[in-house]
Amino acid sequence: MAPKDLDMKKNFSEKETNPLHNLEEWEDDVLERYPEPGQAAKSKEEYRNYDKPARDTVKEFYRLNHKYQTWDFVQAKRKEFLQFNRKEMPVWAAMEYLNTLVDDSDPDIELDQLQHLLQTAEAIRQDGHPDWFVLTGFIHDMGKVLCLFGEPQWAVVGDTFPVGCKHSDKIVYPEFFDANPDSKDQRYNSTYGIYTPGCGLRNVTMSWGHDEYLYQITKDYLPEPALYMIRYHSFYAQHREHAYEHLMDDHDREMFTWVKKFNPYDLYSKNPVPPRVKDLRPYYEDLIANYLPKTVKL
Ligand SMILES: [Fe+2]
Ligand SMILES: [Fe+2]
Repeated sequence: MAPKDLDMKKNFSEKETNPLHNLEEWEDDVLERYPEPGQAAKSKEEYRNYDKPARDTVKEFYRLNHKYQTWDFVQAKRKEFLQFNRKEMPVWAAMEYLNTLVDDSDPDIELDQLQHLLQTAEAIRQDGHPDWFVLTGFIHDMGKVLCLFGEPQWAVVGDTFPVGCKHSDKIVYPEFFDANPDSKDQRYNSTYGIYTPGCGLRNVTMSWGHDEYLYQITKDYLPEPALYMIRYHSFYAQHREHAYEHLMDDHDREMFTWVKKFNPYDLYSKNPVPPRVKDLRPYYEDLIANYLPKTVKL
C-alpha cells in the first residue's frame, strides 16, 4: 500500500467518527436552514446563534467534514468502496440492513430509516409521479449503509460539494474549509481548480458520501433524472444556492429541475404517523423488480 493510502486509512477516534448523536441531527439542521415554504426562515445570524444542544454537535460534524473531505480523501474512499466487495443482497434486504442502523435517537419521536424512505416515496406516489420517481424516493438513502461499515458520519451524510476547486462560501460553515489542506493547494483553490468552465458535473468529483455511493450502485438501471436525484440530493450549495453554476452544462441544468423537484419530498414528507411497512412491501418489491437487479452489491 502506498504511504498516501495508509495516510487516508487514518483511524478516526470515536468522537471524530460519530460527532452526531444520530444522523437525523444533520437532517433536522438542514430543515432549519431550508424550512418549508410558508414557515419563517431564520436569518443567517439567527441560524448561527440559535441556542440548541444539537447545534454544537452539528457544528462539530461540519468542522470534521470540511477539514477532512479533501481531493485525496475522496479518491481513497472511491477506491475503497467502489469495489463493492462487502455484501451482496436483494434491495429490500439492503433496506432492512440499513434499518439496523440504530443510534440514540428517541424511538418515540424519530422515524427509522425505512420509515423515512417510505414516507418520502409515498408522498411522491400520492402526487402521481412516474413509478421510477417513487422508487427513487424509496431507495435514495440506501447509501447510508456506509455507516454500518464503520465510516465516519461526515463521510456518509452532510451537504456535499465539489472537490478539486474552490469551496464556495455558500456552503454551510464555509470558514471550516480553512483547515482543509486543499484550500491552501494551488491546484485546487481557484474558482475552476482542476476543471474547466461549464465542463459538466459528470466531470466533477463530489465530496464522498451516501449520494455518490448509491449513484454508483444504481447507475446502470435507473432513468437519468432518477440518477441525478440520487447523486446530487445533498448538493444544497447548488440546488438551493446555485453556487456551482459555472461548472454545469445545459444538460445538468435540465436534469437539476428533477433534483429540485425531489428535494421537498426528502425534507418535508416527515409525518408522525409511521407507514405500515407490511402493507406497502408488495408494491415496493414490484417496483424494485421492475428496475433493479435481483441483488445489489454493496
Ligand atoms: Fe440523503
Ligand atoms: Fe433522505
